[in-house]
Amino acid sequence: MGETTQGSLTPESIRELQDRAVAEAASATATPADLEAVRVRYLGRKGLLREMYSQLGVVAPEQRPIIGQLLNAARQTIEQALQGRPAAPAAPSRPAFDFTLPGRKLPRGRLHPINDTIEAIKDIFKRLGFEVAFGPEVELDYYNFEALNIPADHPSRDSFDTFFLHDDVLLRSQTSTVQIRTMENRRPPIRVIAPGKVYRPDTVDATHGFLFHQLEGLVVDEGVTMADLKYVLHEFARGLYGPDVKMRFRPSFFPFTEPSVEVDVSCFVCGGKGCSVCKRAGWIEILGAGMVDPNVFRYVGYDSERYTGFAFGMGVERVLMRRHGINDMRLLLENDLRFLRQF
Ligand code: PHE
Repeated sequence: MGETTQGSLTPESIRELQDRAVAEAASATATPADLEAVRVRYLGRKGLLREMYSQLGVVAPEQRPIIGQLLNAARQTIEQALQGRPAAPAAPSRPAFDFTLPGRKLPRGRLHPINDTIEAIKDIFKRLGFEVAFGPEVELDYYNFEALNIPADHPSRDSFDTFFLHDDVLLRSQTSTVQIRTMENRRPPIRVIAPGKVYRPDTVDATHGFLFHQLEGLVVDEGVTMADLKYVLHEFARGLYGPDVKMRFRPSFFPFTEPSVEVDVSCFVCGGKGCSVCKRAGWIEILGAGMVDPNVFRYVGYDSERYTGFAFGMGVERVLMRRHGINDMRLLLENDLRFLRQF
C-alpha cells in the first residue's frame, strides 16, 4: 500500500529537495529577491515542502513518524540556509577580481630625518670600529650625575636642568649615562657610541625642546691620548661634512672630562668666510668632548694609572639642522608629512 505515492516521499526525495533548496539559497549570485523566491518555492503555502507534508497521510503508519521528522528537519535546514545568508547587495555578475588591472602601489615609508642622521653618524663610527650601546631613558641619579663626577649640591648640576620622577629617579638629561653603564659591564678596550633621547625642562623654541637626541662616544684603553680624540673626531667631521672640513678645539669644562673641549667645524655653507648659518663666525660648534676624568674611572673600578680614554657628546638635532639647513627644530616633531617627505 502507498507504494505508488511513496515514490515522491522517501528519505531520499526529502534529502534531495532539501539539498536543492540549500544550494539555491547559498548561490553566490542570489539577490534578496532570489532568496525570497527560494523561500516561496520550498517553504511557501503552496511550496514543494508543503506538498510533501500533504502526502504524509499516505505513508505507511509505521514510517510516518520517521518521514515526519525528516520533513521537519528539512524545513529547519532550509530556513536556516535562507536566514544564514546576509541580505547581500545584488552580487555583480562579472568576476570578483579583474586580473587585468595594474597592481596597487604600496606607500613607501622612510626614516625620520632624526633617525636618518643617527644612521649616517653611526655608519661613520662603525667604520672606525665603534659598537653601538644603549641605556634607559628613565635613569637613576647615580648614572646621570653622581658617577659622572657631579655630586649632589654641586653647582655644575645647574647646567643640566633635569626632569625628576622621584628622589633619585629622573629622565636622563644626557647620554653620558651610557658611559658609566658600559664601563660597569665590561673591561677595556672599549669603543662605543650611544645614540638616544634625552630630556630637559627647557622652554620650547626654534633651537630648544624638552626632548632631543644626543649621540655619545666613549673610548677607553691603555695609552689613549688626546691625539686619538682629535683623530677620531676629525674623521667623523670629514665623513659628515666632506674631506675639506676644518676643525677647531676650544677649552671648555665638563665635570666628567679633564681636560674638556668644545669642537667647532668650519662652516660648510660658506667654507669659513662667514655667513648667516654660522652667524658670520665661520665656525659652527658641533660637540663637547674631553679625556675621561680619573674620578669617573674610580666609580666604575677602573685603574686610572693603567687606562685612559676620551668621551664626546653631540646634539643630533643640531647636526641635522646644519646638515639640511633647517632653522626650527620644532618642525621635526610636528609629524607633518609635507615637511618630512623632503628628506
Ligand atoms: N654630556 C655633555 C652634555 O650633554 C656632552 C659631553 C659628552 C661632553 C661627553 C663631554 C664628553 O652637554
